[in-house]
Amino acid sequence: MEYKKLISFPEGFLWGASTSAFQCEGAYDEDGKSKCERELRPVPDNIADFSTTSDHYHRYKEDIALMKEMGFKAYRFSIAWTRIIPNGDGIVNALGVKHYNDVIDECLKNGITPIVTLHHFDIPNCLEERYGGWRSREVINDFAEYCTVCFKEFGDRVKHWTVNNEYNSFFFDMLNSSFGDKTAGIDDQNALKAGINIAHIKLVAESKVIGICQEMWPDALIGPTVHYEPGYANSSRPEDQLAVDNNDAFRVYLYLDVACKGKYHPLVWRFLEDRDALPDIQPGDMEIIAAHNANWLTLNYYMSATVGYSRLEDESVGMAISQNGGADDMTSYNIQGVVKGYANPHLVRSEFGWEIDAVGLRNALRRLAYRYDLPIIITENGLGAYDKLEEDGSIHDPYRIEYLKNHIAQCRLAINDGVNLIGFCPWSAIDLISTHQGMAKRYGFIYVNRDEHDLKDLKRYRKDSFYWYQKVIESNGEIL
Ligand code: BG6
Repeated sequence: MEYKKLISFPEGFLWGASTSAFQCEGAYDEDGKSKCERELRPVPDNIADFSTTSDHYHRYKEDIALMKEMGFKAYRFSIAWTRIIPNGDGIVNALGVKHYNDVIDECLKNGITPIVTLHHFDIPNCLEERYGGWRSREVINDFAEYCTVCFKEFGDRVKHWTVNNEYNSFFFDMLNSSFGDKTAGIDDQNALKAGINIAHIKLVAESKVIGICQEMWPDALIGPTVHYEPGYANSSRPEDQLAVDNNDAFRVYLYLDVACKGKYHPLVWRFLEDRDALPDIQPGDMEIIAAHNANWLTLNYYMSATVGYSRLEDESVGMAISQNGGADDMTSYNIQGVVKGYANPHLVRSEFGWEIDAVGLRNALRRLAYRYDLPIIITENGLGAYDKLEEDGSIHDPYRIEYLKNHIAQCRLAINDGVNLIGFCPWSAIDLISTHQGMAKRYGFIYVNRDEHDLKDLKRYRKDSFYWYQKVIESNGEIL
């Protein structure tokens, strides 16, 4: 659709950016914090670990001052469960609570709305050791207990919550290394069952937590954060359009239908039934799921997915995710009898192998808005790239400006399409450590002076994109 007269971004639009605790705070064993599973996972020699990261724990005031200078209206960050209940046993760490009180107050003092993620990949390692983390139903109560502490301590000031960042991993678990062998998840009924049980446990936990929050703070927004790669058919063959539906159902509707509609998606359910891998549902689970639904959606968008029909006799193939900081290839895979991935010849890739597709963001927003009819905020979107600090302290990142400009333009078009988009918080506010591609893969508006192993002075520098985003926010998205 093209419009003759474009509607502007609404007043009060939440312009900002995002981070997550384990990727930017550092101080990973300070002030009573325990370590999360991600912080203890071995990293390749050529990649930074998560001990210091960007030292945001100590420098949050300076960082928030820079966010204010950019004009941020919102800052999306995550709370580390390991700081609040370090031993996972219910005993609250006062220093952890104090830290996030300070961060929240600092945001508010600077006119920045805090958007808080309760869990961003960082389960306390002690719970992983005690009962296998998200593999065990025991986590449901422990997670609810931790979230209840957060609602009690911060809920008077935090009115925007997201529960479990990118918990929609079932599709990727079928393709990747979570179960050891790359394709084990696709072909092995036990692995499928284990994967869907994790999904179910996360969904029950999320609904429970949504219920607790809505009971305590009826004025709050709370919902899931998903990553979504909307599907395109690889050809006009009608069967390939079926693969698009499969893609969207397995990647995202499986989760969002439960979180927003209180029920499982019929297509995914039939697949699980057919493969003898239905989740272990306990009495009361579906009641919890049906009773407590999200009242907003938060979306992480990085790429689309070009897909085609897959036959049962087509051999399963995993995705090629880099294990050592190199480029990924997320386009060539096959989930036997479900969906097959293809490279999209119309798209270019980032230096790290991710296909770049701004229009895909409009597609994603439209599909989610029309299906769930909820307010949506973008909590991640951005370009991981190699940046260079010049001798004069400048960082020229026109590629990032170009990327964000194109994606923001698509957000505006989505608003014109009737999407209730209320904010844009790309990844990331400051440089931080990538989940699997180290410090060299930078996303921030603010450069952090360190490399993989040399911490240098961790000084902050404003990139060209910093000044550009400042103007975008100042003009409420009119000047891109
Ligand atoms: C999202 C995550 O998947 O993508 C972030 O929520 C992550 O934690 C971001 O950093 C970018 O991915 P990566 O692998 O480049 O760090």
